[in-house]
Amino acid sequence: MARYEIIGGAPLSGEVTVSGAKNAAVAILPATILVSGLCRIENVPNISDVRILLDILRGMGARVEYETENTVLIDCSMVSSTCPDGEKVKKMRASYYLMGALLGRHGKAHVALPGGCNFASRPIDQHIKGFWALGADVEETSEYVDLKPGENGLQGNTISLDVVSVGATVNIMLAAVLIPGQTIIENAAKEPHIVDLANFLNTMGAKISGAGTDTVKIRGVDSLNGGTYAIIPDQIEAGTYMAAAVATGGNVLVKNVIPRHMKSISIKLQEMGARILEYDDCIRVIAGGKLRSTTVKTRPYPGFPTDMQAQICVCMAMAGGVSRLTESVYETRFFGYISELESMGADIVVSGKTAIVTGKPKLYGATVTAKDLRAGAALIIAGLSAEGTTYVKDIHYVERGYENIIQKLTALGATIRRIED
Ligand code: EPZ
Repeated sequence: MARYEIIGGAPLSGEVTVSGAKNAAVAILPATILVSGLCRIENVPNISDVRILLDILRGMGARVEYETENTVLIDCSMVSSTCPDGEKVKKMRASYYLMGALLGRHGKAHVALPGGCNFASRPIDQHIKGFWALGADVEETSEYVDLKPGENGLQGNTISLDVVSVGATVNIMLAAVLIPGQTIIENAAKEPHIVDLANFLNTMGAKISGAGTDTVKIRGVDSLNGGTYAIIPDQIEAGTYMAAAVATGGNVLVKNVIPRHMKSISIKLQEMGARILEYDDCIRVIAGGKLRSTTVKTRPYPGFPTDMQAQICVCMAMAGGVSRLTESVYETRFFGYISELESMGADIVVSGKTAIVTGKPKLYGATVTAKDLRAGAALIIAGLSAEGTTYVKDIHYVERGYENIIQKLTALGATIRRIED
């Protein structure tokens, strides 16, 4: 295991370039299974979730090569296996996208249930509902999901999701692209990574419309051809660096962003006193002295992202007054980091879905443990802002989703280093 040692107190300043979006990459890479040809994917973040997925594809017979650190060549034309390596699948959550991709391309799949961040119960009933609706026979156990064509074969259908689910929207899209007929996903998720996946698939010849709205239409095609596609910048990585700039009282230019994707985060940081200057593909964040309290309610996109809950909470912990942070997507997400922040001096009381955060003049360094990806990122921000030295343990969670985080923070003036335990 490894930990980060952070010596806090220095305002972050300078420039940071955001990497490709993790949650787009982990959907687009399995989607290459649907393509009969060579895919050249640019702006792929070099993070452990991506490396695991590429290793799984390789193990299934795909040709996978790195053209550069962030450009990957993938040809799944020769993939015949419909049963990815179970041990690797369990190392991450988004491996369940292999279910939809394999069902869509080969008409069957046998995929172990995923692992990944366990900050909440993360059911997949909506994914399963979608597969049944498309005509698959689904066998779901506590270990795996097995899919094969039902007696009437696979056929497009209309699926109305009971809950706005990124994962279910992605998995149904993947399953439907090569299935005859039209599939309509109602109450679909609208996140930027949903749109990015649809754009990737359409670049390869799919017929998807409505991505980014709550109704996505997929008209099945016979095959997809290869091509080149560049993944969008990571909204949450960008938001994490914006929050770090604010929490440390800094002045940071966050480059390679799509400002429109950052709106809900920019608005909240401005409410807390930061100055946010938007340009075509970058945002400057200038902390505005003593932070002001605010109220945040997380919502599916375009609302304030649940994946930024922990990071904004750190800003609230040092703001004047009392802030309220309400979680509407994963009710138990608070418990991945609140106690750790309290050990650094934060004053946070969780009541139901809402955390009441009473701002303190400062946080103090401590030894804390990352329990999931975004909780770990928040503890790093807390350590950067705190007086003294902070050790963040179990940082493998963080390295699942933040490319070159040590190098990027060091370039912004942070004193941070990785220690192998
Ligand atoms: C995706 O998870 C992201 N992961 C998560 O980011 C993110 O927090 C989440 O979307 C919400 O934006 C990836 O994209 C790989 P959901 P996902 O299905 O797809 C319920 C990160 O830090 N639900 O949109 O698992 C579910 O319990 C990660 O990058 C069902 O009830 O999220 C939750 O309350 C953490 N049944 C809500 O829907 C289902 O079948 C939203 O979940 C599916 C979901």
